[in-house]
Amino acid sequence: EQSSVPYDIIGEEQLSKLVDVFYSRVSQHPDLAPIFPDDLTETARKQKQFLTQFLGGPPLYTDEHGHPMLRARHLPFAITPIRAEAWLSCMDAAMDDVQLNGELRAFFFERLTQTAHHMVNRPDDEG
Ligand code: HEM
Repeated sequence: EQSSVPYDIIGEEQLSKLVDVFYSRVSQHPDLAPIFPDDLTETARKQKQFLTQFLGGPPLYTDEHGHPMLRARHLPFAITPIRAEAWLSCMDAAMDDVQLNGELRAFFFERLTQTAHHMVNRPDDEG
């Protein structure tokens, strides 16, 4: 039997739905909407590529955009602790929406939590 990575368990279809539902929540969140573009099509496309490789799937993001350098790519945006929590709350709700549950969800959410905290680049009062 072939060894499987988290990406193989979640699969392309559920990951894609998760990202779409996530950005529809982001676009309606009062703390997040102001720093995102109005049209999130391209953002969602890149996030699907990134999360595919984040979960051990093929390196789709790196193949097209080079090294992720996520913290550097987020520096132009005011990522405050409040916004990091808002991002995570949208993701938590999106995981509910697509019924991503169990160990995979716990593992994935934990890694996203670490990454979100790492993205923080401004205090709340500079948001
Ligand atoms: C891009 C906000 C956390 C992955 C962006 C953009 C914003 C943003 C405003 C630019 C959107 C655009 O112009 O298309 C935030 C906020 C976060 C956060 C407020 C809260 C902590 C994360 C996390 C990840 C992530 C945890 C990965 C697990 C990405 C990726 C892009 C992106 C892959 C596209 C980068 C590119 O343009 O190539 N984010 N982000 N972000 N974010 Fe985040």
